[in-house]
Amino acid sequence: MDVQTLFQPFSLKSLTLKNRIVMAPMTRSFSPNGIPTSDVATYYGRRAGEVGLIVSEGTVIDRPASSNDADVPHFYGEQALEAWRQVIGEVHAAGGAMAPQIWHMGVMHPHASGWQPPGPFEGPSGLVMPGERIGVEMSEADITETIAAFGRAARDAKRLGFDAVEIHGAHGYLIDQFLWAGLNKRTDAWGGATLPERSRFAVAVVKAVREAVGEDFVVILRLSQWKQQDFAVKLAKTPDEMEAWLTPLAEAGVDIFHCSQRRFWQPEFEGSDLNFAGWAKKLTGKATITVGSVGLSGEFIAAFQGESSHPSSLDELLRRFGRGDFDLVAVGRAILSDPQWPTKIRENRSEQLRDFTREALATLY
Ligand SMILES: Cc1cc2nc3c(=O)[nH]c(=O)nc-3n(C[C@H](O)[C@H](O)[C@H](O)COP(=O)(O)O)c2cc1C
Repeated sequence: MDVQTLFQPFSLKSLTLKNRIVMAPMTRSFSPNGIPTSDVATYYGRRAGEVGLIVSEGTVIDRPASSNDADVPHFYGEQALEAWRQVIGEVHAAGGAMAPQIWHMGVMHPHASGWQPPGPFEGPSGLVMPGERIGVEMSEADITETIAAFGRAARDAKRLGFDAVEIHGAHGYLIDQFLWAGLNKRTDAWGGATLPERSRFAVAVVKAVREAVGEDFVVILRLSQWKQQDFAVKLAKTPDEMEAWLTPLAEAGVDIFHCSQRRFWQPEFEGSDLNFAGWAKKLTGKATITVGSVGLSGEFIAAFQGESSHPSSLDELLRRFGRGDFDLVAVGRAILSDPQWPTKIRENRSEQLRDFTREALATLY
């Protein structure tokens, strides 16, 4: 397969992308008091020329404890939204497209800085890990207000001129805490023994977002089977369970499923080599994004612990892409450390590709 296949345009509803490469959402914590600085705008603008779609770092919705980090950007409040207007301005000026990733962290351990949000961490049952309660169980009013806050963030994304919106439903954060039986012990309509029952919160968020942005604006939902709290968790253990999980989300308004794996080549179920994005596309007919160690030898959690990764072949990715398993390919660390990564790939300059090392996380170049 030729790498040039990744450089075909993609279009869905009002979204048109120049190629299939997505910059994966990556928290950078360079937005003091939640306000993105002009350096943040420059950082995204620097990558917009060659990346098809930039998904922003997770940016939190308007809830007292939606974040555990004072330097994670807000997606509410006049000052933060004005700063995001600068960001999308720079991205468009460079010829790019961008979606904010709207986020509520749910129940979290406090940040190492010691900073505390102005309210208790909240989640379906107050749990951060099975058996570890460090937050509060959300009331019906908390849930209603949180769903509405996701809707407002999506409406603001469209109003500010973003090209799409991504809902962060992955990695053990709030929406995923509802999905995960280990953290959702509720006995009301927001809990239940089955994954479709525990998906009702996610469905309600998707519906609120869809209602806020209208039919023509692309809504992306990021999901993962794995949790940062436990890599071994699998929400859907069979294709049937996955279909029962994803179908109501698709019907609620998801246009693109962003299927997060730590290693994209790992098959989701026995008996087939399809990965998460491959199954999601097959089961729902929706467009999908794959992600996880594209172009790099090691995965990203190990990178936080200091493990370096070397450039690696795209052959397996291209084989799956050529087979039609997914529509878009998200790339995280390779683009974080090298804004020129897509250009080098397109021009077959593989000898110029760089290793990823932890030092890249310390700066916002
Ligand atoms: C520094 C860093 C921050 C991240 N922050 C987020 C985030 O805010 N939201 C999210 O959904 N994923 C986040 N991720 C995960 C990435 O989006 C991506 O799924 C992961 O890095 C795997 O892609 P890669 O192997 O190409 O780096 C983060 C990853 C890194 C390295």
